[in-house]
Amino acid sequence: MPEANYQNWKSERDENNLVWLYLDKADSGTNVLSASVVEELGAIISEIAAEPPQAVIISSAKKSGFIAGADVNEFTHFTDSGAALLAIKNAHAIFNALEALPCPTVAAIDGFCLGGGLELALACRYRVATDSPRTRFGLPEVRLGIHPGFGGSLRMIRTVGPLAGMDAILTGRNLSAKTAKRIGLVNFVVPLRHLRTAARDVALNQAAVKPLAWWLRLANHRLVRPLLANVFRRKVAAKAPRSHYPAPYAVIDLWVRYYDQPQRMLEEEAASVARLVVGKTAQNLIRIFLLQEQLKSLAKASSFKARHVHVIGGGVMGGDIAAWCAVQGFSVTIQDRQPETLGRAYKRANTLFKKRLKDRLLIQDARDRFVPDLAGHGVKRADVIIEAIFEDVDAKRTLFKEVETSAKADAILATNTSSIPLEDISVVMKEPQRLVGLHFFNPVAKMPLVEVVHGTKTAPEHVQAAAAFAKSISRLPLPVTSTPGFLVNRILMPYLIEAVLLLEEGVPAPLIDKAAVDFGMPMGPIELADTVGLDICLHVARILSESMNIAVPQRLNDLVERKQLGKKTGFGFYKFKNGTPVKPTVEKGYTAPGDLQDRLILRLLNEAVSCWRENVVENRNLLDAGVVFGTGFAPFRGGPINYIVHRGVEQLQKTLQALSKQHGERFLADEGWENLKTERD
Ligand code: NAI
Repeated sequence: MPEANYQNWKSERDENNLVWLYLDKADSGTNVLSASVVEELGAIISEIAAEPPQAVIISSAKKSGFIAGADVNEFTHFTDSGAALLAIKNAHAIFNALEALPCPTVAAIDGFCLGGGLELALACRYRVATDSPRTRFGLPEVRLGIHPGFGGSLRMIRTVGPLAGMDAILTGRNLSAKTAKRIGLVNFVVPLRHLRTAARDVALNQAAVKPLAWWLRLANHRLVRPLLANVFRRKVAAKAPRSHYPAPYAVIDLWVRYYDQPQRMLEEEAASVARLVVGKTAQNLIRIFLLQEQLKSLAKASSFKARHVHVIGGGVMGGDIAAWCAVQGFSVTIQDRQPETLGRAYKRANTLFKKRLKDRLLIQDARDRFVPDLAGHGVKRADVIIEAIFEDVDAKRTLFKEVETSAKADAILATNTSSIPLEDISVVMKEPQRLVGLHFFNPVAKMPLVEVVHGTKTAPEHVQAAAAFAKSISRLPLPVTSTPGFLVNRILMPYLIEAVLLLEEGVPAPLIDKAAVDFGMPMGPIELADTVGLDICLHVARILSESMNIAVPQRLNDLVERKQLGKKTGFGFYKFKNGTPVKPTVEKGYTAPGDLQDRLILRLLNEAVSCWRENVVENRNLLDAGVVFGTGFAPFRGGPINYIVHRGVEQLQKTLQALSKQHGERFLADEGWENLKTERD
């Protein structure tokens, strides 16, 4: 057995002549397949091949999970596709050698088994997994602009067939152990305490592997593949156009063309990933992934831990924040002046519990943790107090003056205000340094970002504690200054207002939305305004119009006056049917203005530059991350500032100049553009 000293792997040979290989990546809490991990695996397999044991069982020595995937940091080091190809081919050779071992191989999996980790497991003859909810299988590569590159494109489809296989590859979705078993991805699912025994039994008894059902084999037939591929392409196109996201199309093409020639398919897979990984889309998506990790790591600055959250104000935001915290395992008390509001909040919370937790006992536990608290008894016991009452400075002042005196000395005191400067609220407090903003977005359960707002008086340790809390409820914390609109609303507002101005000029709403979607936004600005609620948009627009010197379009005022507030009332800019906008057909022969997309996007970019110049966020990388996670800004463009730098600062400045000549001063380039030419970060 391999006796050599490996940094990342541990091995044992037991009395049955089974080799147990444990991955324990050095200096890391999580197993990832870095180049050194793969390299060492190669050496170990060569040694095993020279003196094969009864069987090999691969497992993880880490409590956190099996393997989280490849080392994404290493993807940024490839300067050209040649270097990437070399690394991928090396991994292919090692995985092929694992697959070709003459003895049975078993992956024993507890916790996440993702990306390259799943590809490694797929190169084993058997997979045995625990039934823990933490055990998740997935091939999330498309989210990074690539597709499986360690042989997974072939082996996944060969193991589970093209329907479930392509679904996993094209969506990047995670699967539970139960689903993995049902589709044939794992052979056995057992409780954690039986994992070792089950893996050993499988290795020793060499259970027969069930072949793919006949109809799945048929679906892989060369005559059927092109037909199915069209269905896959159509499905992908509805979410990710080829010009922006080439990877899913590339993997469909690989399957159609080469599935009958496994060796060739592996070679083409390697070439395809090597091409994609150095492309713009992948490099930008990888950048966003790493920035997301950076946002999460902001939580590490504080050791703050909460158990009990008290939310004051049980309306749209307060109710949903409280429900989200309960889903995340916290004890929650929720206070409102009106019992009927608490009743509505409880009902909405219940719907969320069912949707997110699915299991009856888990749903009941969440219900038990969610306690309506009309009198506000929870304030005294809470570790975190979040205020989400009306947007009224006097009401908030009165509240915090009172809360401050009864809250625990180390509790976080947070407001969800979207527009009131923290200093205006904390002026009545004895310890104004305690007040932070935790600005959630609507809908809370869907929006991953939380702006952690600090005023001039807020103490850094409270900001850090608030960031740690945001991370603990699975939200990405973004520290921002307490300036009007913070980051996200401020950047969105000029873009939304420009969209309404275009509408007032007679450009049909569907074309305005299409221009934004073509750029890569998840939804057009008109539909977004309707979805957020026109009353909310008008409220934010009014506040920002003072500080940003922008006029609120009349059309927005009119609709709100007529109580046509968008999706929630069934009417707004669009009419809604079952929650979806009915987009009117555009008159034949109508052509949209040539500068339509520029007008929308450049208003947004100009504001991003302004926020960067004013240091609303600490640096431009975090600004990019905030805009992507807070607004959905085309992730494959890597964030607004990254996009500006790559498209060319001067070129965009010229476009702004031309637009300002034609449409007015609102297009004048912010002073920050000049600094962008010289500064790196
Ligand atoms: P809402 O009007 O739906 O709810 C406010 C609730 O607070 C009401 O149920 C009211 O009865 C209760 N309330 C008022 N004064 C109270 C007091 N002294 N004690 C206990 N309960 C009290 O308002 P919404 O939309 O939930 O907004 C709440 C806060 O969140 C505001 O500061 C708003 O700016 C902010 N926000 C709103 C967003 C949105 O999309 N609605 C997004 C992000 C922030």
